[in-house]
Amino acid sequence: MPGPDPERSPGAGFERLQTADGSVTLVHPVFKEAYSSVHGALTQARKLYLELTRTHLDPKPRVLEVGFGLGVNFRVTLENTLSRGVELEYLSYEFAPLERALLESVEVPLGEAAREVWAEVLGRWPEPGGPAGPLQLSGNWGRLELRFEDVLEATFPERWATAIYLDPFSPEVNPLPWSLPVLERLYAAAMPGTLLGTYSVAGEVRRGLTQAGFAVQRVPGVGKKAWLLASRSRSG
Ligand SMILES: C[S@@+](CC[C@H](N)C(=O)[O-])C[C@H]1O[C@@H](n2cnc3c(N)ncnc32)[C@H](O)[C@@H]1O
Repeated sequence: MPGPDPERSPGAGFERLQTADGSVTLVHPVFKEAYSSVHGALTQARKLYLELTRTHLDPKPRVLEVGFGLGVNFRVTLENTLSRGVELEYLSYEFAPLERALLESVEVPLGEAAREVWAEVLGRWPEPGGPAGPLQLSGNWGRLELRFEDVLEATFPERWATAIYLDPFSPEVNPLPWSLPVLERLYAAAMPGTLLGTYSVAGEVRRGLTQAGFAVQRVPGVGKKAWLLASRSRSG
C-alpha cells in the first residue's frame, strides 16, 4: 500500500513515499505533490512516458522532458535504450534542481552501464547556489542535456523531439507550464508524428493541447483512470 516511509527521512521537508508498485518517490514540501505517481512511480515512467510515447521502440529517440525532477524518467528511458543498443538523446528542463542527496535517495533498478551514466550525472550535479549552466553529458550511450531553466522562458529546439514527456507538477498547483504558449512551443519542438505523454487529463490541458495543434486522446492509465496522449500530425 502507498504510504509514508518513516524508515528514511530525505530531509529538507521532503517526505519519502512508497508508491503502489513498491517504488519510492518524494513529496514536494510546497507543492504537496509527489514527484511521480502514487499509483506507481516506476510504472508511470515505464508505461506512460517510455511506452505510450513509443520511445521504447524508437531506433533513435530524442526525448524532450518538462521537469527532470528525480531523473526517474531519464533513468528508465536510458535503461531501455542501453538494453536495445540504441542511442538516446535526452533534453530536459528543470527550474528547481533538487539537492544531489535527494536524487541519490530515490533508486531505480539499473544495469551496470546505466548505473555508470547516472553516477556521472550525480558527479556533475550542481552544488546549491552554484552555476546554473546546462549539465551536458555524452558517451556511446547517447547524450543528456539538462537545462536549469523555467519552461515559460526557455527556448526549445524546433522539429526536434521524437517524444515529449510533459511532467511538471499538476495544473491545479502549477498551472503555468501547462499554459497555451508553452504547449504551442512544445508542438513546434515536436517532429511530425511525435507523441506527447502526460498524466493530467484536466479539461483545460486537453483543450490547450488541442489548440496548440495536437490530436489528443485519453488512454487507460495504470492505477489511475486515465492518462493523456497527444500527437503531432505526421503531415504537419
Ligand atoms: C512531477 S516532477 C518531475 C518528475 C521527473 N520527470 C522524474 O522523472 O523524476 C515535476 C518537476 O517539474 C519541475 N518544474 C515545474 N514547473 C517547471 C517549470 N516551469 N520549468 C521547469 N521545470 C519545472 C519541478 O521543479 C519538478 O522537479
